Amino acid sequence: MEEWINTTWEKLDRKLRASAGRNGDKLPYTVHGGRFDDASKPNITWWTNGFWPALLWLMYDGTGEEVYRRSAESCERILAGAFAECDRLDHDVGFLFHLSFGADYKITNSSSARRYALYAANLLAGRYNPNGEFLRSWNGRDNVGWVIIDCMMNIPLLYWASEETGDPRYKYIAMKHADKVLKTHIRADGSVNHIVELDPDTGDIIRSYGGQGFCEGSSWSRGQSWALYGYALSYVHTGEQRYLDAAKRVAHYYIACVSATGYVPRIDFRAPEEPVLIDTTSGAIAASGLCEIAKSVGENERGTYLFAAEKILCALAEYCDWDPETDGVLGMGSEAYNPGSDKGHHMPIIYGDYFFAEALYKLRGGRLLFF
Ligand code: GLY
Repeated sequence: MEEWINTTWEKLDRKLRASAGRNGDKLPYTVHGGRFDDASKPNITWWTNGFWPALLWLMYDGTGEEVYRRSAESCERILAGAFAECDRLDHDVGFLFHLSFGADYKITNSSSARRYALYAANLLAGRYNPNGEFLRSWNGRDNVGWVIIDCMMNIPLLYWASEETGDPRYKYIAMKHADKVLKTHIRADGSVNHIVELDPDTGDIIRSYGGQGFCEGSSWSRGQSWALYGYALSYVHTGEQRYLDAAKRVAHYYIACVSATGYVPRIDFRAPEEPVLIDTTSGAIAASGLCEIAKSVGENERGTYLFAAEKILCALAEYCDWDPETDGVLGMGSEAYNPGSDKGHHMPIIYGDYFFAEALYKLRGGRLLFF
């Protein structure tokens, strides 16, 4: 396995070096005609805009190659423009700014990167509903009580802010949210709800929604991955066993589901078998989360999680494009189940590349935790 990991990392580095050299001026979402698009132009606050600088920082830390750093810094200058539209930002400030400015700070000790990451943490903390004991996900009057499972990946920004400043308020909010979601989103069998609407005055459940999955009560696989990895991270930052137990419960369900499809996740584990719709991004996120669980459990348990992470990565590698002349590594990502649409399925999506690279970085013993 070690040889496969090293060879795959080398292919990734060769491809991304070339891509970094020609993409220091955009924040890509997907690929058209072999070239990255630029999601910063239509919408600088789009939730995935931090993943390209994040990937560049991760590769810089993993290789020391300057082209990554130069491009990451240049992309960050564009991303900083999102703060000027802070009324359009939502809970995804974690994805946007923790992995970009936060990673920059962890690697370079830049005081301005630290300032931006802390600013983002304050925006996220401001979304806390003290009566309901949750962080609201989106904006607008119609979804004041909506909470999506994805937010479990944004709260590590709050843990980091407490660790960085010594102020426990951020961590307090993050744990309140994690505890709430444990009750409202994580089902007894390890599957998860994507969206749950809570009463904003009491925090009681009003109803759940299928969201990007097949239907209410189904199991959107990327939502599973956000929960698996998110609770693993809450454990890492707090040491609370209930979070590790939750991560493991979701992981066991996830592993059972993907082992039935050659370790390539379907978009929803509870959708009809036809049409065959897969989402490689879900697998990449889960693989990185499984690596994190593996680090957190005892030696005799570790193999279960590492084995699954490696199986998933090897399966996903079949969908990778290693040509340095084109942008985008991991193909066959999917935005949502949505079978009636011919858009949003089976395409490269930037966070697929990020999490694929992050899992490899961990398997190679990378020194930093970016979340
Ligand atoms: N956080 C939105 C998504 O996973 O598509």
